[in-house]
Amino acid sequence: MHKLPDTLLYQLHQAMGLNPASINAQALRNAVDQRMQRLRLHDVAAYVRQLRQDEEELQLLIEAVVVPETSFFRHPAAFMALRRVIAETTGRRFWRVLCLPCSTGEEPYSVAMCLLQAGLKPDQFSVDAIDISREALARARQGLYPEYSFRSEMAHQYMHFFRKTDQGYQLSTEVRQCVRFHHGNILNQQELLKFGQYPVIFCRNLLIYLHAEARKKAATNISRLLEADGILFAGNAENTQVWQGMFRSRRIPLAFALCHPARQKDTQTMSARQIRQQMAQQQPQQQPGKQQEQADAPVVRATDAVTSSSALDQIRLAADQGQLDRVHQLCQQRMRSFPRCAKSYFYEALAYEAEQQRSAAIRSFRQAIYLQPDYTEALQHLALLLDAEGQLQAAKRVRQRLQRLKDEQHAS
Ligand SMILES: C[S@@+](CC[C@H](N)C(=O)[O-])C[C@H]1O[C@@H](n2cnc3c(N)ncnc32)[C@H](O)[C@@H]1O
Repeated sequence: MHKLPDTLLYQLHQAMGLNPASINAQALRNAVDQRMQRLRLHDVAAYVRQLRQDEEELQLLIEAVVVPETSFFRHPAAFMALRRVIAETTGRRFWRVLCLPCSTGEEPYSVAMCLLQAGLKPDQFSVDAIDISREALARARQGLYPEYSFRSEMAHQYMHFFRKTDQGYQLSTEVRQCVRFHHGNILNQQELLKFGQYPVIFCRNLLIYLHAEARKKAATNISRLLEADGILFAGNAENTQVWQGMFRSRRIPLAFALCHPARQKDTQTMSARQIRQQMAQQQPQQQPGKQQEQADAPVVRATDAVTSSSALDQIRLAADQGQLDRVHQLCQQRMRSFPRCAKSYFYEALAYEAEQQRSAAIRSFRQAIYLQPDYTEALQHLALLLDAEGQLQAAKRVRQRLQRLKDEQHAS
């Protein structure tokens, strides 16, 4: 089969908001082929008819199409920022956190471990975790994970919550009991509003797969679910434009934290010394032999000289703290000393992005990509910014390049 009929794509578009251009076309065709083979159907038109009448089959096709990619403590800066928000907030006795989508559970369980490690008791918070995939939810409830789920360095600090078994790493009952899993669809407002509002929402790495209208619906639904003063953690490549201008940046660029536009007061900036003290107090048990997560507690030296590899840590810390002027200053210094360092341009671009300076951000992302042609994060950001600027052909070319990189990675 070469081209999928528009009627079939429309069904996925309606049911889950899928933008077919956001995923590998061959993978989508394979998913349909696989379902048709199961049903012993040879005619795609017959399959489309079946999909219309049979909700169960539609769910099975969704299962075959979703991208469940996730891991423990993915994009760790968000968890660092969460710990800071909890530490800085006085007067809240109970924290409700929503993870939508939650995939196979690594993200909501990371939130639970992070809050326990921050000193909260299990009766001081709850985590609701929602996903459209029933298969992913079933795996999440088991709490049994392969080595691959721990690919973020930060995850290695939380191994004491797991027990190694022959089948994989089993998460402790204490953590599992903090998370409740629910089947749900981000596009279904009625269903979602039953959950009430949350001071903290993680909605990461879903909007990039949705078409424009579905993104708008999803952003509206998340906006209703977020308390007036709440914080939303978006995906790594999902800036305020992806969120349809409904949120504004909390100016913690690496955590991709957003809030309602009306919110006046940003998180108080802590000094580097305060952060180090807080980290030392909250230092989780370390797995023997595992290296300390460097990004977690970078050391800021008194000097302004940006000459060594710790310079990138300093830039990252300034970005985490929302000190955007400092990010620019440090990036400029580093560019003078290391003009071929793609990361300096990347961080500079993130700062421009957080300041809504889109043209400047585009220039810096382009420079980062010029220096490091396989810089996928920079390519993802660039594609979204070009969309936002209405440069759709250019955005398409960047996406094609990303797809080629992904295909090459899969092939190797
Ligand atoms: C790439 S994973 C992201 C998981 C996690 N948030 C993270 O960033 O690691 C995307 C997830 O979105 C789910 N999903 C796709 N469409 C959805 C929808 N309309 N409503 C809810 N979940 C959806 C998929 O089942 C998949 O588990």
